[in-house]
Amino acid sequence: MEQLVIASNNAGKIREIRELVEGVELLSLRDIGFTEEIAEPFFTFEENALAKASAIHQFSGRNVFADDSGLCVIALNGKPGVDSAHYCGERDDEKNLQKVLSELSGAEDRSAFYKAVICLIWNNEVYYFEGICRGRIISEKRGEGGFGYDPVFVPDGFEQTFAELPLGIKNQISHRGKAVMKMVEFLKQQLRC
Ligand code: IMP
Repeated sequence: MEQLVIASNNAGKIREIRELVEGVELLSLRDIGFTEEIAEPFFTFEENALAKASAIHQFSGRNVFADDSGLCVIALNGKPGVDSAHYCGERDDEKNLQKVLSELSGAEDRSAFYKAVICLIWNNEVYYFEGICRGRIISEKRGEGGFGYDPVFVPDGFEQTFAELPLGIKNQISHRGKAVMKMVEFLKQQLRC
């Protein structure tokens, strides 16, 4: 079976992606012996995803994909955006979420979207896949599932937060689910050839 490395250490993301990818053996960074932090110094999801995928490709020479994702809040001019993971100054989901809630207090427009960009390096060529999920930020946390900002994000067309919805539903409508499904379609075509 073909192997593909996921260039992430985020357990929540890896769990979601494993649910979606079949027919290819997914290897984690631990599986390939990569233990360093990969810097994400750029201002776009695309550049950060490329930086992560390239670092692992250089390290291992293997086919690899990286996802860079985040929450963009309209009333905050798109923040936290590429800074979603460290918005409060450290990698702390609870503090990041509380910072967004406090910045949004009193705001009328609570609309937001999650965006994910996957950069795939497949047989030494670079490919990008994007997914967006629109919704709104509620003022109090609800639900135990998901990760990051999920307890306050209600996707359009639903009443529950991403932390309340089952993972199967989240994966069908989420930014990452959409981007991963595009990559899966691409991989199916490649593997047929
Ligand atoms: P990355 O590892 O740089 O892509 O950071 C992604 C960050 O964006 C996460 O640490 C979360 O804060 C946020 N994020 C991205 N996708 C999701 C999601 O599906 N649910 C909740 N938070 C997310």
